[in-house]
Amino acid sequence: MPKPDRSPRLDLLFGGISQASSQGVTSCPAGGGYPTLRQALGMSPQALIAEVEAAQLRGRGGAGYPTAHKLSATAAGAGPRYLIANADEGDPSVYKDSTLLSRVPERVIEGMLIAAWAVQAEQAYIYLGGKHPECRQPLNAALAAAHERGLLGQDICGSGWNLCIDIVESDGLFVRGDSGAVVNTIEGRPPEPEVRYGRHLASSGLWGRPTLLLNVETLACLPAIIELGGTQFAALGSPHNGGSKLFSVAGCVARPGLYELRMGSTLGQLLEASGGLAPGATLQAVLLGGPSGSLCGPEALDWQLDYDLPERSGASIHAGGVSFLAEDCDLVQVVLDNLAFLVSESCGQCLPCREGLPLLEQLLRGLASGSSKPQADLKLLKQTIALMRNLSTCGLGSSAGTSLESLVVRFPERLGLCQG
Ligand SMILES: Cc1cc2nc3c(=O)[nH]c(=O)nc-3n(C[C@H](O)[C@H](O)[C@H](O)COP(=O)(O)O)c2cc1C
Ligand code: SF4
Repeated sequence: MPKPDRSPRLDLLFGGISQASSQGVTSCPAGGGYPTLRQALGMSPQALIAEVEAAQLRGRGGAGYPTAHKLSATAAGAGPRYLIANADEGDPSVYKDSTLLSRVPERVIEGMLIAAWAVQAEQAYIYLGGKHPECRQPLNAALAAAHERGLLGQDICGSGWNLCIDIVESDGLFVRGDSGAVVNTIEGRPPEPEVRYGRHLASSGLWGRPTLLLNVETLACLPAIIELGGTQFAALGSPHNGGSKLFSVAGCVARPGLYELRMGSTLGQLLEASGGLAPGATLQAVLLGGPSGSLCGPEALDWQLDYDLPERSGASIHAGGVSFLAEDCDLVQVVLDNLAFLVSESCGQCLPCREGLPLLEQLLRGLASGSSKPQADLKLLKQTIALMRNLSTCGLGSSAGTSLESLVVRFPERLGLCQG
């Protein structure tokens, strides 16, 4: 019997799935980039959500929350309901969502149609980040073409169901991707995070109504789930982490770029997919998860990359930004750059983040240059990180100390501190 193909590389999101069969109850025009829509509209919303549950799809925006739970919680509330595609992508370590929107906008719109059908939303928004103006034209063209073909607007494919998709643009700051900032921007309020949102958008999001906020890559997975079936999609990944993940690879590798790997592939497999280390480079560390991510040593090459990694290692893949750092890279400067980025891209409305970030920068500079009181500074640094983690209003502040913490824990010698 031939062995099943378990190579880590996949091509689901940029067009690897085949054209879906033409069975279905509706009269959608065939072909043209919406191969699974007809099949999805032939399913009941409950059946669709059950398929996503079986697929073990976890949100690709950073936190890895189970998508089916969000779908069923949103569907449970009284309408009108809304859908938002989060395309802010203010994290400079990733470019997966903007690449999807530029190269395969129909795949994302198809995912939006499927998600909106699952929760019976009739109004959806694409929340496009100001750092990605290149997405505007392809997206507008794809939306217009979908309208022309009766795949958007009134009575889609003769189903009696309507969906309108509008684009709302953010100014592109990293903080604008937070769920509260997203909702406030679309509502026309000050575009800042708010404690009131937390995880309850499903019951009280846009204008107090049930709202489904999903990342662009998460949405792009939905056609693949319909095409393959939930169980088969789940089997592509690791336990509780179905499907594939896009990783944006930078640093000392032969071929930096965007790679789609099975969920649960190892960091070493990602390095291999990126052509291995650049000629002459020796791996010192990896920054996993962008400016709010963790610095890890070469032992991380054995780690399985999925949304359960934090329980196994304390590090997170977040949105999938991975930077391989060579021996000559100054890790202190990497963390200082992360902190400077977070200072400039936070909104400054809450005290722990506003005051904590500059204090962390100051303490790191002091420790790196041989502080006269390292133990006291280290204690204050840990207290500040803990305070920010517990008291910040949004995830930017609560995770802002992560790269610094990982430097202290995994590379104490870079700060002149004793190991252990
Ligand atoms: C500071 C900050 C920035 C964020 N930026 C993004 C973003 O650019 N894109 C995104 O999808 N999610 C972002 N998120 C997470 C979203 O708030 C939300 O959890 C996500 O869009 C949900 O989609 P998912 O379930 O498909 O992951 C950000 C969160 C925080 C705290
Ligand atoms: S944690 Fe930072 S970015 Fe988030 S609301 Fe507070 S000040 Fe703004």
